[in-house]
Formats: sequence, structure tokens, C-alpha cells
Amino acid sequence: MSTTPECITVRTEGRVGIVALNRPKQLNALNDQLMDELGAALKAFDADPDIGCMIVTGSEKAFAAGADIGAMATYDFADVYKGDYITRNWEQIRSVRKPVIAAVSGFALGGGCELAMMCDFIIAADNAKFGQPEIKLGIIPGAGGTQRLPRAVGKSKAMDLVLTGRMMDATEAERAGLVSRVVPLDKLMDEALGAALIICGFSLPSVLAAKESVNRAFEGSLSDGVMFERRLFHAMFATRDQKEGMAAFVEKRKPDFKGA
Ligand code: HXC
Repeated sequence: MSTTPECITVRTEGRVGIVALNRPKQLNALNDQLMDELGAALKAFDADPDIGCMIVTGSEKAFAAGADIGAMATYDFADVYKGDYITRNWEQIRSVRKPVIAAVSGFALGGGCELAMMCDFIIAADNAKFGQPEIKLGIIPGAGGTQRLPRAVGKSKAMDLVLTGRMMDATEAERAGLVSRVVPLDKLMDEALGAALIICGFSLPSVLAAKESVNRAFEGSLSDGVMFERRLFHAMFATRDQKEGMAAFVEKRKPDFKGA
């Protein structure tokens, strides 16, 4: 990045790139600058050969309490439509090819919940609260909440959350399939880092293909998805890491993956 980010902090732990949202006074409310900085940081990690996985996190009190309501309050339709405001730079996170883990503590509401859902999986602290409260503001979710939430938790619970605007706690979110694991708050980053380091230890081509193939499950038909997966599965046999991974198993030793 050419300038120092103001709304996020960026660091690395080994081969893991970590981005923390950092607008504490606004509970990490998401504005264009923050989303630009987040997108740029993730893209930079994606292009960095020394990075194998990323984590997006917030503060103990808030992953993100949504899009910045103060910034949106006076917009009219022509503003938001012409400028593609608020949402214009969100989907770039989806173009990141390496895995991105959301480590969520505190509030993940509205755009905050949508941002977490754009990541590849969510590890939640036991104080996490998820919701799509936009209905209470006279709007609806605008960054995938009505699309990704039903895919994650099914229609009934998604309708319940989107239509009532209520929050669900981490236990309910795990039961519903929105989050992959719930851990005590003080263990959140250790758990996310542990998962990220495991991923970093695998062959990068297989990690990229696995992510791409799982994402296919959310686009198009099952038969297309299965065919896509089969093509990538067969393509894995063109990598040296496949030879190494299988030879290591047969020889009862640890594989030494080279990312090729
Ligand atoms: C701007 C926000 C904010 C937000 C909180 N703050 N959420 N500012 N945008 N989304 C600010 C508050 O104004 C306050 O600032 C400070 O953060 C602390 O918040 P409090 O309300 O005092 O804290 P608390 O009582 O603990 O309540 C926490 C909360 C509540 C339940 C999370 O803040 C809340 O309901 N926030 C709004 C949640 C929401 O509606 N999100 C959806 C937004 S719409 P001051 O200056 O008073 O201290 C959306 C659309 C996305 O996300 C569309 C796609 C991009």
C-alpha cells in the first residue's frame, strides 16, 4: 500500500497476514475508506508469496457494527445509485484467492455480518453477536446479507434475522452453521492463527483449488459444481506437491510442500 492505513492495522505472524479493523470509537463501522484499505491490504497479502492465509478481525467489543450510519444518513437514491455508494468496493474481497478467516468477537451486525460472511469461514468468540438489523433503519442488507445468510443458515432463520433485525449469539450461530467454531474470547486469535498456520503448511495450489471449488457450491447447479471440482481434482495431479504429499503418506513421513 502506498499510504499508511488509518482505519485498519496490518501485521503478519509467520506466513499469516492479519488485518484488524480499527475504528474503535465507531465500533468499527465500515466506511469507504476502511473498505478501500481492507481491500488493498488483502490484495497485497494475496500477491505476497510469503503469505499463505489471512485473518480479518476487529476488537473485543466489535468485529464491525455495520456500515457507517452517519455517513449514509443523508444520501438519497440518486447519490447511492449513481456513485454505487457504500457497497462499491465490497465485492473485491471475494476476488482474494488465498483463504481469509474471519475472527469475530463482539458485534458483527449489518455490513459487519456481511463482511464476515464474505470471508471463507468464521471463527467466533463466545461474546460474538451476529445480525442483520438494517430493517430497523428502513433499509435492507446491501452487501450479500439476503443472499449469503440463507445459504449459510437456511431460509427460516435468515428470514427471522433479516425481518426482525434481532441478534443471534455465538452458540446459535454455530448451531445454525454460520460459524465453524466458537472459542472463549481470550483464545480467539490463537484459534484463528492455529487454523491459518495449518492452512499455510499445505500445498498452495491445492489450497487455492479447494477454496475455489467450495465457492462453486454457491454458484450454479450441483452438476456443474461437481464437474468443476472433478476438473480441479484431476489438475492437482499435475503438481509436484501431489507426488510429495502421497509419497510422504506411503513412506510414513511429513510432506515437504513446495507450492508447485
Ligand atoms: C456509525 C456507529 C455504528 C454504525 C455504532 N456506532 N454502530 N456509528 N455506524 N453502524 C457508534 C455509535 O453511534 C456510538 O458513537 C459508538 O459507536 C458506540 O455505540 P453505542 O450505540 O453507544 O454502543 P452500545 O450501546 O454498546 O450498542 C452497540 C450496538 C449499537 C448495539 C452495536 O451501536 C447499534 O445498534 N449500532 C448500529 C448497528 C446497525 O444498525 N448496523 C447496521 C448498519 S446498516 P458515539 O459517538 O455516540 O459514542 C448496514 C448496511 C450495510 O450495515 C449495507 C452494505 C454495505
